[in-house]
Amino acid sequence: MTRSKRKWDHIQYALTTGQSRDTGFDDITFIHQSLPDSSIEQVSLKTMVGELSLSSPLFINAMTGGGGERTEEINRQLAIIASETRVAMAVGSQMSSIKNSSEISTYKIVRKENPNGLIFANLGSEASVDQALQAVDMLEANALQIHLNTIQELTMPEGDRDFTGALRRMEDIVKKLPVPVIVKEVGFGMSRETAKKLTQIGISIVDVGGFGGTNFAKIENERRNRLLSFFNSWGIPTVVSIAEVKCSFPDLTVLGSGGVQCSLDVVKALSLGASAVGLAGYILKILLEEGIEESMTEIEEIKKEIGYVMTALGSTTIKDLQKAPLIIEGKTHHWLNERGIN
Ligand code: FNR
Repeated sequence: MTRSKRKWDHIQYALTTGQSRDTGFDDITFIHQSLPDSSIEQVSLKTMVGELSLSSPLFINAMTGGGGERTEEINRQLAIIASETRVAMAVGSQMSSIKNSSEISTYKIVRKENPNGLIFANLGSEASVDQALQAVDMLEANALQIHLNTIQELTMPEGDRDFTGALRRMEDIVKKLPVPVIVKEVGFGMSRETAKKLTQIGISIVDVGGFGGTNFAKIENERRNRLLSFFNSWGIPTVVSIAEVKCSFPDLTVLGSGGVQCSLDVVKALSLGASAVGLAGYILKILLEEGIEESMTEIEEIKKEIGYVMTALGSTTIKDLQKAPLIIEGKTHHWLNERGIN
């Protein structure tokens, strides 16, 4: 199977597989406040991700690596959406375009369509410093995402089986790159043990990429005969992952993602300590099924609704949100208790 066929299969399966809603967002309830002393006019959605200033806490997360016309067109449309709605955007893995220069246009188009926006480059943890520099140069990127995807690789028949040396390579990259480095998961969540290893090598921004949304184990298992079905339910739910990493490392910038589908999910992720929130499968589904205009409308609606929820909670800034009273129920409560997080 060619790489671009595999990537197209990912897109197709992502639309139908794995929006399972096991994220934990439904276990969080805000405590209603009758006297919030707030006005929607005062609400600011501005946030910081390391040194980067974002006008809203939403970003479009990495999708559609590899080459091919269809991929390039999706990247072009995502770039237009990001530019028009002024949200940051990550591209999918650039490794194949580094190895095969005919694929570079798939990425260049993103900067061309969004000359002034915040764009994140993307590579896996097998990348060298040189490849990281090339990925950033290709897009004049404002940051580099490095994805960790061991479970996806293990479920892919043609995937990697050797995950040694990743920390050492990332340590080199973070020292030598001129832009911030964000280490992200891809839908299996990040534990505090992983976050600890990352902080020890100088990583200051992580994206938990939690369980409960796009599920690459299910996607890969749909594509093969011999199933590794035990990986279908493997992972740390998004809400647990945000809470556990942020509580354990308050100085770490945490990005929340994995199964985010609405404004209330976004506000919940922020209230648990995320500085910004990534959407991947949800926005791709709207783009492919309803089109570019609908996707932009959805992002604008989500932004507007975040303002309404913040007003109801009496929070005028993203920082205020982190103090909003809430209760945690069910599996999420149990999980956090077991992990000693209160
Ligand atoms: C992805 N994702 C991804 N992540 C990454 O770091 N590099 C990549 O190349 C890709 N490719 C990719 C393709 C497609 C079709 C999808 C849907 C997703 C993972 C993505 O960034 C995100 O971490 C997960 O999808 C979980 O978020 P959602 O989809 O549940 O919002």
